[in-house]
Amino acid sequence: MFPSRLIWVGWPALLLATGCHPGHTQSMLHPAGPGAAKVADLWWFLFAVCTAVFVAVLVLLVMALLAPREDREERRPGTAFIVITGVAVPTVVLIAILIYSLLAMRALRNPGPDALTVEVIGHQWWWEVRYPGRGIVTANEIHIPVGEPVRLHLKAQDVIHSFWVPNLHPKTDMIPRQVNVAWMQADRPGTFRGQCAEFCGKQHAWMAFHVIAQPPDEYEAWASRAAGTPPAPEGEKGRRGREVFFRAACQNCHAIKGEPRAVGRVGPDLTWVGGRASLGAGLLETNHGTMSGWIANSQAVKPGNLMPRYYLPSDDLNALTEYLMGLK
Ligand code: CUA
Repeated sequence: MFPSRLIWVGWPALLLATGCHPGHTQSMLHPAGPGAAKVADLWWFLFAVCTAVFVAVLVLLVMALLAPREDREERRPGTAFIVITGVAVPTVVLIAILIYSLLAMRALRNPGPDALTVEVIGHQWWWEVRYPGRGIVTANEIHIPVGEPVRLHLKAQDVIHSFWVPNLHPKTDMIPRQVNVAWMQADRPGTFRGQCAEFCGKQHAWMAFHVIAQPPDEYEAWASRAAGTPPAPEGEKGRRGREVFFRAACQNCHAIKGEPRAVGRVGPDLTWVGGRASLGAGLLETNHGTMSGWIANSQAVKPGNLMPRYYLPSDDLNALTEYLMGLK
């Protein structure tokens, strides 16, 4: 028999584990923008209505169970009771929910064409991020200015993914050969975690990204730097790493701005890879060690991703890591 005590311990533990993340950087109940706030309001409204209905049904059930046996025959509900509780009340409740949902949807209309547009392309299992007209390409990290609506052009390279930053906006599917338009806005600076919300294969759970909402001047400073070209490696080691990069044919899949031969688009753009917070779409923190490990055998940490293993001599691996970490 299933130990029933486990359920009583397990449920609260599961709720605590899933509901309480310090900082609430991935929580739709802690909205940081107007779109997410609408969704949170709708959620609380539905929660209140459903709780009221649940409690009412339980009260009626308990009253029925506790009634003396002889009373049950006498007090059998009449047609009026059935029509009111079975037809009228559900109709009113469902219509109220429908109206509230439609009002929330209306408030989520897209901003005008003047809004900053960011193109996000879902790949198995990472995010390509482009800023049309600004010459910025990055991956797994989206910088946005605080207090401004940002229009999202959402696409998919291979299978269906779903773009979702719970603190900032409702989720939107990314469908191959289609552009879905959505928008998000942050009302306060911060880093918010996004997550693919549609099962898309083996590493779906490790298809994460971060949205970094910055005050407008900080955002502009980031954007003008990101639109530029990273400096050439200064030290001997970095220069050797650059040679290793081309010798190992990394350019076939990856692009680096300022390197005319490195224009691959199969994998993430590496122009500023050393300055990005995470490696492997939210899987690892970017540092010298994780970068080396990823290059040597990314299949060990994220099985099934498209990057092959590179068993380079240790000096070459070190130099290549130095070069890539210097791109920041
Ligand atoms: Cu992409 Cu799940």
